[in-house]
Amino acid sequence: MKRDIREIAESGRWSVEILSQLLSLRGEAQKALLLLGGEYLQNYRGREVYYRGLVEFSNLCTKDCFYCGIRKGNRHTERYDLPDEAIIAAARFALEHRYGSLVLQSGERDDPAFVDRMDRLLQIIKKETDGKLGITLSLGEQSPETYRRWFNSGAHRYLLRIETSDETLYRQLHPDNDKHRFQKRMECLRSIQRVGYQTGTGVMIGLPGQTLNHLAEDLLFIKTFDVDMVGMGPYIEHEETPLYDRRSELWSLQERFLTSLNMVACLRLMMPDINIAATTAMQAIDPVGREKAIQAGANVIMPNITPSNHRKDYLLYQNKPCTDEGADDCSHCLSIRLEMIGHHPGYDQWGDSPHYFKRMQR
Ligand code: 5AD
Ligand code: FES
Repeated sequence: MKRDIREIAESGRWSVEILSQLLSLRGEAQKALLLLGGEYLQNYRGREVYYRGLVEFSNLCTKDCFYCGIRKGNRHTERYDLPDEAIIAAARFALEHRYGSLVLQSGERDDPAFVDRMDRLLQIIKKETDGKLGITLSLGEQSPETYRRWFNSGAHRYLLRIETSDETLYRQLHPDNDKHRFQKRMECLRSIQRVGYQTGTGVMIGLPGQTLNHLAEDLLFIKTFDVDMVGMGPYIEHEETPLYDRRSELWSLQERFLTSLNMVACLRLMMPDINIAATTAMQAIDPVGREKAIQAGANVIMPNITPSNHRKDYLLYQNKPCTDEGADDCSHCLSIRLEMIGHHPGYDQWGDSPHYFKRMQR
């Protein structure tokens, strides 16, 4: 089986049919696929896993995505917005713990006060950390000018998940208004790439109404769009969201998890030189979910370094792990977990995706 999969991978002829078959593999055949994903990672990128300290600095959000626990319409979540000092302290923490990179994430806002504040913060963090810390933003849809401004102030990676590359499915997951258009999302992703960011996207796996064909198309979309980084993980329902009404249509959590592992492995075979994150949502389903994702080809972990008193308020989905731990505990626990599976942290490195540099030369 492994030989067959290897032949497919080496031929580079990816199609919806082949990919949906690979995504459906279970048992011994699945094991072969995951092992090959791990082998590609080892051959192309080695055994280093890069850390990005994740700061979820605010759950204020102007949007209303049907799947997300911090959507504007959820009145049962306590809203917070960390002060600048707390964010800067988290950046210092990342540097001192040799994480190499920082990810700033929040609910989506595009008002001028927010845009200015981020711009200022980026400059301060760059200065305070001597330019040593790589900075990734995950702040949703913005104007091309805003993306450019933040890039010029020191951010060099941007994550914007497409969530699903199927427009019909996208419409079922979002309200029908200008703030939630699929085309807008696409344009934003393109403009992030044009500005010069290392560009990241990703999808949720196991959404109501989603099929293996959709997911196969997602993988082809990611490859065609030529992104540098990908974060994808299982969809996990949240009681206080509209999509919860469709929970009877969902695959079991285990199926969503197993399909996510196959997605990681397939993508590693399709794009050996990109960065792929082992996402927290995978750990939410399986206590060693992130480690399994790494063994299947993921090479980035985003440890949560949000000051712990607010972690419980950033629940995109339920059962999110590590919401009652401090960042110190996480960093210790992580390196041990990595060593257990024969990998090691890429301390003090930005861990850029070689794909980006190749793309820039073309
Ligand atoms: N389950 C899994 N992932 C989710 N996200 C948002 N809500 C959920 C959920 N219920 C993901 C989206 C978003 C990222 C920040 O978190 O893909 O882009
Ligand atoms: Fe906040 Fe989707 S609910 S961006």
